[in-house]
Amino acid sequence: MDAAPIGVVGTGYVGLVSAVCFAHLGHDVVCMDVDEGKIAKLERGEVPIYEPGLEKLMADNAARLSYTTSYDALLEHCRILFIAVDTPPSPSGDADLSRVQHAVREIAERGGQRLLVMKSTVPVGTGEKVMADLEALGVTGITYASNPEFLREGAAIQDFLEPDRIVVGCFRDEDGAAVEALYRGIDTEVVRTSVPTAEMVKYASNAFLATKISFINEIANVCEQVGADVRTVARGMGLDHRIGPHFLQAGIGYGGSCFPKDVQALKQLAGNTGYHFQLLNAVIEVNALQKRRVVGKLKERLGTLRGTTVALLGLTFKPNTDDLREAASIVLAGRLIHEGAKVTAYDPMLDAGDHPLFPGVVICEEPFEALAGADAAVLVTEWSEFGRLDWAAATSVMTRPLLIDGRNFIDPAAAAEAGLEYEGIGLGGELRAPIVR
Ligand SMILES: NC(=O)c1ccc[n+]([C@@H]2O[C@H](COP(=O)([O-])OP(=O)(O)OC[C@H]3O[C@@H](n4cnc5c(N)ncnc54)[C@H](O)[C@@H]3O)[C@@H](O)[C@H]2O)c1
Repeated sequence: MDAAPIGVVGTGYVGLVSAVCFAHLGHDVVCMDVDEGKIAKLERGEVPIYEPGLEKLMADNAARLSYTTSYDALLEHCRILFIAVDTPPSPSGDADLSRVQHAVREIAERGGQRLLVMKSTVPVGTGEKVMADLEALGVTGITYASNPEFLREGAAIQDFLEPDRIVVGCFRDEDGAAVEALYRGIDTEVVRTSVPTAEMVKYASNAFLATKISFINEIANVCEQVGADVRTVARGMGLDHRIGPHFLQAGIGYGGSCFPKDVQALKQLAGNTGYHFQLLNAVIEVNALQKRRVVGKLKERLGTLRGTTVALLGLTFKPNTDDLREAASIVLAGRLIHEGAKVTAYDPMLDAGDHPLFPGVVICEEPFEALAGADAAVLVTEWSEFGRLDWAAATSVMTRPLLIDGRNFIDPAAAAEAGLEYEGIGLGGELRAPIVR
């Protein structure tokens, strides 16, 4: 084991979870971030993000973790440096690598022998480009490995410590071995490969998962037309081991900080080489339309939305996270307001009042406040508390007890019993409440 501490650049969802988990595996870890507020919180033992179990694991391993905003302090002792900065989409659809480039520059300028390990999701070819740029600058002490991360927010610690696989791409065998050694204690398959192949594994994985979601959403849309139940269709499909049960939950589409940008970036990457990745175009389009179908369902039942009140239940892109990046709720709220509806909302992670991502939306303290006087509710995020909600009581505070369940989270029979006019996604035939105008 490298005796020097591991450095982690970027203490967001990936960087902080990686740092804490590496500390849990017995390593000393120095966490570096340019965000002074985040580092100040971390130094006080506070976790700046919501991720179940993270605060406790961080506290348990406090002795092995240190935090800094200074590259000088980071590089004083660390030889292996994980880069876990954000790589958001740029206006062209390509990944914006400016934060990665900034981190590499800061490290290169300070000299020394370093192994950069890219955890951020970066386009195929980034590792080769980083090395070529460093060579052009005459920097010789830096080597590079790709170690893409596959964790899911909300289950990040388990995903990091019990991963399906660890992918390590390297230019030199000893770098791959050094990265692999850091994961000692984790029992899983390690895929050792070239840097471009490792970079591609990440994009291909996310693109495939997004494709599965768009596929089942299209099946759901057809189910509605032909009177079938997509939940049972998915179950029947998923029992086939060639298909598998995961990522076959129909709903209002994927969101979050990864799928939309990674699918877009892969499409763009292919396009930049002259290859037209036709399938991904459809995946992206289906996902965009899926969010809007909810508005169509509301209009079908309510007529015009002008003057109506629609309550959104859940705003984060999925449950058990506070992450709102690319959440379906943002598009939905915007569309509803554009249609002239008043939009109220409740999410366990959001304070009541205004939120810059939801202009015009009244964010409430608790679900019944959002539902009071609503002509319809849309279940956007399947937070477990919505499963426990007293739906019969909800119907009594709503003007019209209409629930569009964007995640097929509530049992249609229980919803009917509670007096709800219920409509899910892909639930055709008798599962769909009759339309009364
Ligand atoms: N969030 C996920 O579920 C997930 C999963 C797998 C992979 N990824 C990938 O991991 C990367 C990080 O994602 P995230 O969700 O953790 O992002 P994030 O926005 O939560 O965190 C990024 C952190 O990097 C810091 N940062 C930015 N520029 C910096 C710099 N030059 N020097 C030091 N710190 C800097 C930011 O202040 C921020 O704290 C992305 O490429 C993402 O695609 C994310």
